[in-house]
Amino acid sequence: METYDFDTPVDRTGKETLKWGKYEGQDILPLWVADMDFLCPPPVIDALREEVNHGLFGYSLPPRELVKTIEERLLNHYDWSIDPSWIIWLPGMVPGLNIASRCVGEPGDDILTTTPIYPPFLTAPGYADRNALRYEMGFDPVLERWTIDFDALEQTITNKTNLFLFCNPHNPLGRIFSVEELKETAEFCLRNNLIICSDEIHCDLLLEPSKSHIPIATLSPDIADRTITLMAPSKTFNLPGFGCSFAIIPNPQLRTAFKKIRAGIVPDPAAIGYTAALAAYRDSAQWHLQLLKYLKSNADLAYQRISRMPGLWTHPVEATYLLWIDARKLGQDNPQRFFEDHGIGLSDGRDFGKPGFVRLNFGCTRSLLEQALDRMETAVMELKKES
Ligand SMILES: Cc1ncc(COP(=O)(O)O)c(C=O)c1O
Repeated sequence: METYDFDTPVDRTGKETLKWGKYEGQDILPLWVADMDFLCPPPVIDALREEVNHGLFGYSLPPRELVKTIEERLLNHYDWSIDPSWIIWLPGMVPGLNIASRCVGEPGDDILTTTPIYPPFLTAPGYADRNALRYEMGFDPVLERWTIDFDALEQTITNKTNLFLFCNPHNPLGRIFSVEELKETAEFCLRNNLIICSDEIHCDLLLEPSKSHIPIATLSPDIADRTITLMAPSKTFNLPGFGCSFAIIPNPQLRTAFKKIRAGIVPDPAAIGYTAALAAYRDSAQWHLQLLKYLKSNADLAYQRISRMPGLWTHPVEATYLLWIDARKLGQDNPQRFFEDHGIGLSDGRDFGKPGFVRLNFGCTRSLLEQALDRMETAVMELKKES
């Protein structure tokens, strides 16, 4: 079996990337935006090479083989039998969130989401002339996890609420919602006549091998009927630059409404994006397994070390390569800036609706992570000495 190398840093000479470009020329380690520092799986690189060598770059169709692979994958991995006509191709997940926000209800309506949350969940309602209703999740010290209180969620909604933007596995909390929680979520949506847009982009980044991802649409035909599921290979196989994502919408009326908003504005993925997606889903299982092991070790390391740092609090991550950190006890107005000033570039909790928190991306080499953790420790210890 081939062994993949996640330890060797990739030479970035001449590459301009969002993640590293932000701090170009500065001694700040970029552990912010959600892409990983690893090369994508070799089968993907081979498939892309072949496509480029072929040299034909006309308008394309979604490859039949990709559609079949997705159908089989959903069935084999999640026991979800879909009809290929339910798939709507997208050049990214964020367009999916924005289309969903426009295709349900009317301007002036309310859209529910839970905070903290990936920032486009908070901006999509406003772009669609809707209001974002925020329900703040809490950490349950007994269950030792972030949870939704469904009575409080019920009290958050209004009679103008018709859409719930949901994220599972959750960015930034790293939660995999249990089947019980998903059932409660589904019942809540059915009871309140809400459409649910379920962003499941992190569904193949489960760090606990005993757990499996459950698409909320698989719980019952009733919930499937009101669900827009968003998926993509981009996070798992580190291909976000290729923009190949898809929505799955079983309900024909909802699907038509979604397609209508998308029509003429949102392009299909580029041909090369389909090629990458197919090679990722069909040929990269070994790479994926080894990636998960590497990420799990990084997650454990980051959790253990940060838990011991004075002024910081965090919790074990079940999925994603993102760690959510409570830095309120540092006593800094802007913890993201504080860490940046000490050479670590994290994401700012304010953008996720939760000031005082920061998000750390551990999808990087172990040595970079260790270096970043060393810097964080030095920064908080210095602060402690000063106080
Ligand atoms: C939950 C979630 N949805 C969507 C995205 C972005 O998707 P895309 O780059 O395909 O628009 C991210 C990226 O981090 C994410 O975490």
